[in-house]
Amino acid sequence: MSIEKIGVIGGGLMGAGIAEVAARAGLETVVVEISEEAAAAAEDRVRASLEQAAKRGKIDAADLDAALGRISYATDVAHLADRDLVIEAASEREDLKLDVFRTVGALLEKSEAILVSNTSSIPIVKLGAVSGLADRVMGVHFFNPAPVMQLVELVPSLTTSAETLERMRSFVADGLGKQPIEATDRAGFVVNSLLVPYLLSAIRMYEAGYASAADIDKGMILGCGHPMGPLALCDLIGLDTIRAVGISMYDEFKEPLYAPPPLLDRMVDAGLLGTKSGQGFYAH
Ligand code: NAI
Repeated sequence: MSIEKIGVIGGGLMGAGIAEVAARAGLETVVVEISEEAAAAAEDRVRASLEQAAKRGKIDAADLDAALGRISYATDVAHLADRDLVIEAASEREDLKLDVFRTVGALLEKSEAILVSNTSSIPIVKLGAVSGLADRVMGVHFFNPAPVMQLVELVPSLTTSAETLERMRSFVADGLGKQPIEATDRAGFVVNSLLVPYLLSAIRMYEAGYASAADIDKGMILGCGHPMGPLALCDLIGLDTIRAVGISMYDEFKEPLYAPPPLLDRMVDAGLLGTKSGQGFYAH
């Protein structure tokens, strides 16, 4: 069965980016959000990103219009019932994702559709178990910004079938033109297992007054050749998401280096989430 109709659950930073990737690959895509306002915000996000791509000469006006025309927005999950593939990219909260997988799993039960999560850290096997289609559930983890970043982590769980993994491998590589790597179903997968402790260390360093945010970032850009410093990257990813990923990784491994430092907790409690809220370690 070919994959032509895509559903994306959540049209935030990642969901909007994933919908754009799918639409630019010629796939008919519906984005499901929690409210009309959130759906409108998702649409604005996709349009702004496509306009940016056009401004940079990555796509022409006709491609921009065609991509926009392939994406629709909805607030009712019933719109996902006829999809070949549903990609969940809702907020990084286990209770919320379990609810989504329960509901959407029931909708897709009678089809051959695949249901995947873009989660950074929540056990895929748990999402599969509540969905009722455990063999057709896996992690497909995109990177931010999804239209630009080439990597996608494929994360089969203990219950994912070999056929589901192979269908997703060819969808990601041939359908979307991205570069897959495979990781086991452990919080953080490959990239966040290495990245998150580094980001949390940078926050601890800033919290302890070692150096200013600008100097910590400048140190890593000029000293290590990174394209962006760790605190600016925290702002880009979203402090709430980093905190949630750190907590899941800490719960799984009990390694202190994964535990969110108090400053991160306080910033999230204060609504200082980074780029998406307008203020994080920097003003945006
Ligand atoms: P975000 O906060 O920008 O967007 C989440 C969206 O989900 C919001 O628009 C919210 O309204 C929506 N939502 C919440 N509950 C929903 C529901 N029941 N149905 C439909 N929509 C719902 O978060 P972001 O950054 O897009 O993260 C989404 C997922 O992607 C998380 O699992 C996160 O771990 C993962 N991820 C995030 C990355 C990042 O750099 N921010 C990178 C890779 C993965």
